[in-house]
Amino acid sequence: MAAKPLHPATLAAQALGWIDEQTGAVVLPVHTATTFLRDPDNQYRRGRGYGRADNATYDQPEALITALEEGAASLLFASGMAAAAAVFHSLPAGSHIVAPRVMYWALRRWLAAQADDGRLAADFVDMTSLDALRAATVPGQTRLVWIETPANPLWSITDIAAAAEIAHAAGALVAVDSTAATPVLTRPLSLGADIVMHSATKYLNGHSDVIAGSLTTARKDEFWQRIVMARSGDGAILGSFEAYLLLRGMRTLYPRVERACRSAMKIAETLAANPRVLEVLYPGLPRFPGHTVAARQMQGGFGGMLSIRVKGGEAAAIATAARVEIWKRATSLGGVESLLEHRASIEGAGSPVPPDLLRLSVGIEDPDDLIADLETALG
Ligand SMILES: Cc1ncc(COP(=O)(O)O)c(C=O)c1O
Repeated sequence: MAAKPLHPATLAAQALGWIDEQTGAVVLPVHTATTFLRDPDNQYRRGRGYGRADNATYDQPEALITALEEGAASLLFASGMAAAAAVFHSLPAGSHIVAPRVMYWALRRWLAAQADDGRLAADFVDMTSLDALRAATVPGQTRLVWIETPANPLWSITDIAAAAEIAHAAGALVAVDSTAATPVLTRPLSLGADIVMHSATKYLNGHSDVIAGSLTTARKDEFWQRIVMARSGDGAILGSFEAYLLLRGMRTLYPRVERACRSAMKIAETLAANPRVLEVLYPGLPRFPGHTVAARQMQGGFGGMLSIRVKGGEAAAIATAARVEIWKRATSLGGVESLLEHRASIEGAGSPVPPDLLRLSVGIEDPDDLIADLETALG
């Protein structure tokens, strides 16, 4: 009888249970070598030649991400942006892609610049609408549909399975930025996506001390080979120590995300009743437009990210942010400490983000302390 597969929380806590064979150490060494010995007959039978393509410290974190995402292989990158760029660099020049209007702003800006330079043809659509996606996807021409769900910073939800059906029917691949969902809550490959991307800077690492990215593929196919070549060719590789820190962070991924989800729900419900708050954007609230789809494709919670719109407009939002003490006024997300940010100030002109919006990344502090701080700041 086959052994019952281990729960992913067990795989993460034990980093797949790998032991250093030579010493018995339960934490593997950090390999800093940039080059590897050739065999006397000129072969590389141990499989590694040069550190830009091969890094032994990546093996365990890449294998863990692959296991958590239920994929075929993963690659680490120097940042989430480097991971995303490797996907687009692996498409033929001039490819047509469809991306969401609401998505991580720096990637949206980068894609728009690629399109302006003629390297890609990009259509930005309302990715909460399958009709809008269908209308933008051109059979035989569209090469890739990029999804982010929940999408930063309005937390809009895209139905991954339905979007994948539309994209595949047109002959396009589907890549999902699953940074906010994490593999704890959503496994896009099991819903039909071809590639999953993470800004591992966020929840995977979880401690606001590493910039990193990852891609995981459903299949080791020709497109994946192009991505493998893009990482080594573009040279956007992660340092060995950062790869080690990322693995250390991932060991606590489950308890961190579970707690952040519980606290975010409590904060969302409390702030929804606050008279100074115009609107709470959180997929866990039943009246949130994407709630039904989120409840289907997210298991165990709706994430640690939410946004609030403050009554009184931009000035009131910025003044609220100025008054918090426990929350830290800082960009980024997914760390153990709670962060709050006036998002429109970051995204600038052309952003779909309302000027009264504060983005909240819920950490692992006591939720009542976080609520009290926000309520005081809202006044
Ligand atoms: C959803 C999302 N995707 C991608 C990125 C880019 O990741 P990185 O900052 O690691 O390059 C970010 C960063 O904020 C993000 O929030």
